[in-house]
This record gives sequence, C-alpha cells and structure tokens, in this order.
Amino acid sequence: MLITFEGIDGAGKSTQIIQLVNFMTNQGMDVITLREPGGTASAEKIRTILLDNSHKISPVGELLLFSASRAELVQDVIVPALGAGKTVILDRFFDSTTAYQGYGRGIDLELLKSIISLSTCGIIPDITFYLDIDPIEAMKRKFAKTSIPLAFEDEELDRMERSGIEFYRKVQQGYREIIKQNSHRLVVLNAMDPVSDIHHQIITVLKDRFPI
Ligand code: TYD
Repeated sequence: MLITFEGIDGAGKSTQIIQLVNFMTNQGMDVITLREPGGTASAEKIRTILLDNSHKISPVGELLLFSASRAELVQDVIVPALGAGKTVILDRFFDSTTAYQGYGRGIDLELLKSIISLSTCGIIPDITFYLDIDPIEAMKRKFAKTSIPLAFEDEELDRMERSGIEFYRKVQQGYREIIKQNSHRLVVLNAMDPVSDIHHQIITVLKDRFPI
C-alpha cells in the first residue's frame, strides 16, 4: 500500500506521519517512511540544490530537478518496497509537482502529466491525505512569526518558502483542483483541527478502506 501526504508547507504533515507510523508499527505492519525530494543519496543531493536559497532556479529547471529526485526514489526504493509487500508512507509525491510547479509556477499541466508518468513509472498512491490550511496560518505556524511580508525574506527560509504568499495561494488553489479531479483518492483534512482528531480521522478512513 502506498499512502501519501500532501499540503502546503507548515500544514503539519510530518506530525501526522509520525503518529500514523507509530500506529501501523504497533499493528505489526511493515512500514517505511520517505520524503520528497530526497530519500536516496543522489536524491538528497538534488534536494540540497532545490532548497538552497543562495541561488535562483527557473521553473523548468525546478520541475526537472524534482522529477529527477522522484525517479531515483521510485526506482531505487519505492518499487522494491512495494514489491516486498511493505506499506510506504510518503511525505509528498507527484500531487506536489502538479500543485507547486503546475498551478504555482504556471507550467503546462498536460506536459506535467507526461513528466510525472515518466518519473513515477505510472505508480499512483492508494490514498492521499491532504491537510488543508490557509497559507498565512501555515506560515505563522511554521515560523511562529506574525509579520508575513518580512518572513518571506527571512534568511532561514528555504528557496521554495521564499516564493511569497501569492505563490502559496496558487498552490492551495491547485490542490483544490486536484481534489476535484481525484475525489476518491484524496481525503481532505482540516489542518486546524487538533492533532489527535486528525490522527483519528486518518485511522478511521484507512480502516474503512483497507484491511488494516
Ligand atoms: P520540505 O522542507 O520537505 O517541505 P515540507 O516540510 O513542507 O514538505 O521542502 C520541500 C519543498 O519542495 C516544499 O516547499 C514543497 C516543494 N515541492 C515542490 O515544489 N514540488 C514537488 O514535486 C515536491 C515533491 C516538493
């Protein structure tokens, strides 16, 4: 089973992933967790290039780097793990590319589909949990700052996080379009709900749909 988590930066994906892994491990399930970009030696190097805020990268360059990182992870880790019967929990997958590079950066969506199918070997998650949050709330939460315009120039922000609030609004809108087109695969959760409530919603949906 392949489970993915999506949402704009600061939505709380990592917290939910940790809780889900604990739950599944206690159930005796064989689970591995991975994050994108990254997850193999070469993909981690690509991650460093993508997030380094000391240089600029064009939208096409960015798309190809995210896709290169994904191709490595899929071939080296995800395909073998799924083949061995493991459950793979992935912090971001190709929906991030559609939302960030497609809707956010404005790259043609049809072109994106071909590149995504190339980099994923056609693998589609069994279920995707989307944590929905307003971009301003997400930024406040992530950086505990109240002055958003200043925060976007903060030295501590990575290259993607420096893209600004308008970019994040487009990304959020993009996710909403993805949800409309994949309403069965994507499960929308309110990221402002208490952490334990979100966790219980996730478990309920999983028990409902899969033999766990
Ligand atoms: P990361 O620090 O992992 O962010 P988060 O904790 O929010 O997941 O950085 C990944 C960044 O890369 C994040 O801003 C989302 C972005 N991204 C894309 O733009 N396209 C993609 O295909 C992927 C996988 C991530």
